[in-house]
Amino acid sequence: MQPFLRIKSSRKIATTILAVTILFGCNWGVATENWQIQITEEEEPGDKMLIQGIVYNKAGEVYPGVTVHVYHTDNTGYYSPNGENERDHRLKGDMTTNKQGVYQYHTIRPAPYPNNRIPAHVHYVVTTPDGNEQDFELVFEDDPRVTERQRSRAARKGDFWGITKLTRNDKGVWEGSFDLYLKY
Ligand SMILES: [Fe+2]
Repeated sequence: MQPFLRIKSSRKIATTILAVTILFGCNWGVATENWQIQITEEEEPGDKMLIQGIVYNKAGEVYPGVTVHVYHTDNTGYYSPNGENERDHRLKGDMTTNKQGVYQYHTIRPAPYPNNRIPAHVHYVVTTPDGNEQDFELVFEDDPRVTERQRSRAARKGDFWGITKLTRNDKGVWEGSFDLYLKY
């Protein structure tokens, strides 16, 4: 009788946990998981880069639970191997902002498109928990291809363009930041 009772009661506990998870699980998980990601494998060619930022809502409050999708070129300026299918982005990742609204990704520093005057950049597609989407594009302050217009727009909070000054830490990793001011 004893072992049977034990199984029965542990089943009951498991059922209760499952029910509680279904009821409240989303709220527990969304704001804390996956705010920090590693996009590239260790052997990916290029300088390592770390970007982090805080996402703010329309009211200027930190915004947890926002999905931040980023993608960028490799260190030869292509999105896909040898540029064969540039709509298929190889270096990409999704984060969900944590309770402090923070996201962070480790990757390599992208190169500009080959034979092109467009500055090196990272694309952002940001989706709020209620499904609103906003795009941003991050460029780097030391890139001579960045135009005056892009620089002045990037100085405005919430603009499509963002700019970051990358600094190299003692491990040789380029570090920068980009806070996102959403219109939602
Ligand atoms: Fe691009």
